[in-house]
Amino acid sequence: MKKIVVALDGHSSCGKSTTAKKVAQELGYAYIDTGAMYRAVTLYFLEHYIDLTNPKKVQEALDNIEVTFHRNSKTGRNEVFLNGLNVEDEIRKMYISDKVSEVSVLAPVRHAMVAEQKKMGKRRGVVMDGRDIGTAVFPDAEVKVFMTADVGIRAKRRQQELFEKKQLVPYDEIVDNLKKRDFIDSTRAESPLKKAEDAHVLDTSYITVDEQVDFVLDLVASAL
Ligand code: C5P
Repeated sequence: MKKIVVALDGHSSCGKSTTAKKVAQELGYAYIDTGAMYRAVTLYFLEHYIDLTNPKKVQEALDNIEVTFHRNSKTGRNEVFLNGLNVEDEIRKMYISDKVSEVSVLAPVRHAMVAEQKKMGKRRGVVMDGRDIGTAVFPDAEVKVFMTADVGIRAKRRQQELFEKKQLVPYDEIVDNLKKRDFIDSTRAESPLKKAEDAHVLDTSYITVDEQVDFVLDLVASAL
């Protein structure tokens, strides 16, 4: 059967990864969380005190970074590894969310990640979520969805997710973080967050996860 690329882009915390995971499972495709890659790079930069204003240091750091995904056989989750170390939980913490957009703005970081993502999806049969998948990584993706939702609703969902991981973060701090990231992500020069012309808009404010998944699967069915 024909294998395609499903690109899910959109604002922070509007259900992209939840939807992408389920769609991938349903299709038997690989799921690639590109946000996790930028988060892992951010973790490395913070741990090594990389000066973001020094292009030479940034490039040197990138040359020393390997981000990979491995399936956890117990949970069935695809988890992210930084230079061989499982960083799945660490990269979801607020101090990474606070810094990740500033790191993702850097052209060398974007070039390295986009090149890696193109390789990962070369054989197609992937569901990728991020900010620039339908515009920069796979402009030829057969299915493109641009997801969004009311910022207050997104913040409440995010707060609940963090709470389940035993992280208590005030609602206002999450709203500020989401707004800040959306602003930096959509105004940067290099592959900014924007809807691809041929992307279908999906507002997840008042719909269930199953409805989100069905929306994408219907598009996949018409593309196959
Ligand atoms: O998807 P997630 O919220 O984990 O992404 C974290 C950050 O990584 C985003 O706010 C954005 O700055 C960056 N990102 C990006 N391009 C992507 C995916 C994520 O710039 N394709």
